[in-house]
Amino acid sequence: MRVISLFSLIALAAPLASAFTLSAPTNPTSGEITQIHWGFTPTDPVAFTLFLMNSTQAFDLKVTIGENLRTNLGQITTLWPVLPAGAGYQLRAVDVTNVDRVLAFSRAFAVAA
Ligand SMILES: *[C@@H]1O[C@H](CO)[C@@H](O)[C@H](O)[C@H]1NC(C)=O
Repeated sequence: MRVISLFSLIALAAPLASAFTLSAPTNPTSGEITQIHWGFTPTDPVAFTLFLMNSTQAFDLKVTIGENLRTNLGQITTLWPVLPAGAGYQLRAVDVTNVDRVLAFSRAFAVAA
């Protein structure tokens, strides 16, 4: 439990150092084409990795949506992974070379079937 709370503290503190912002996708549906948007400034890393997480379980990685995504794209259009419908999903943008360096979280959102 101590390890989990320490991780949560780090995960919460890290995004403050970055200007990166990550939007929750609009009505993501399992297996359907979905757009993901983010905001950035010139001081942000030039690329990042995008994870889909469980919003309440810091270590519950559902899938890697993209690796080495170019930050200056500002958005991607992607096939949403096939996942159980329900609430409690969250996007997490992390450093390409250090997944513990979190650039931003999206708000929690639901996935439709
Ligand atoms: C997240 O984790 C909780 C606790 O393990 C679980 O009840 C919930 O179904 C999970 N949510 C998703 C979207 O996987």
